[in-house]
Amino acid sequence: MFAADDVCELLNRRRKDPGGAVLGLATGGTPLGLYRELILRYQRNEISFATVETFNLDEYVGVAPDSPKSYHYYMRENLFQHVDIDMSLTHVPETFDVDLKSSAERFEHQIEQAGGIDLQILGIGVDAHIGFNEIGSSLGSRTRVKTLTQQTRLDNARYFDSLDEVPETALTMGIATILESQAILLMATGSQKSKAIRDSVEGPITASVPASALQLHPDVTLVIDRAAASGLVNIDYFLRAERNRAVASRSS
Ligand code: GLP
Repeated sequence: MFAADDVCELLNRRRKDPGGAVLGLATGGTPLGLYRELILRYQRNEISFATVETFNLDEYVGVAPDSPKSYHYYMRENLFQHVDIDMSLTHVPETFDVDLKSSAERFEHQIEQAGGIDLQILGIGVDAHIGFNEIGSSLGSRTRVKTLTQQTRLDNARYFDSLDEVPETALTMGIATILESQAILLMATGSQKSKAIRDSVEGPITASVPASALQLHPDVTLVIDRAAASGLVNIDYFLRAERNRAVASRSS
């Protein structure tokens, strides 16, 4: 699995470094397969999380960290509790019973103190949002509170008992925060993401398509299936580039 290979390569390369690897993590349905694969590789002793520090993209405002609806809970359930990670080195934005502005500033400071994010995992919303940077998010934005669009609330309602229960706001890394990561790996599957992928990759850079800001980053890899790639006009070119990349990595 390509995404897992990339994460494992980073973890093993940085294992002996004093600080260890710094991973940016995402939630949602898309990265679940990656997390399952990482747990398997940990169980096979191929990787260790002992020195890894993590930063999650976002968290709903007003959802308690022990609630099954929170991203704190998601991360514990789907990755952290299954591996040898030091929980004090895991950071999911604090949004419950805290001053949100200070929490956002603290989060940015913690990323800086960790030496920045080595590899940021991203999913993408159907409207091309990344983290919870909704359409219209400033391309220079940093960690802050954002109001969720109705589309995003509808898309995420499946994790709640009703649409009314889906929070109105979330604390999210900003687009500029994400762009400061050394490398970015964006994952997407399914035809419902094809327009977002096409607009992000082949459209103009615009705040109306938050993921289009990734065009400004020198090291972004897209791991997408055929359905998510189906809207790309230059699909033949991208397939050839992928084949050449595989040949280049085999011969290096
Ligand atoms: C939420 C998250 C995003 C995620 C998106 C897509 O909005 N904040 O980080 O990329 O959902 O989720 P899924 O992978 O379930 O389609």
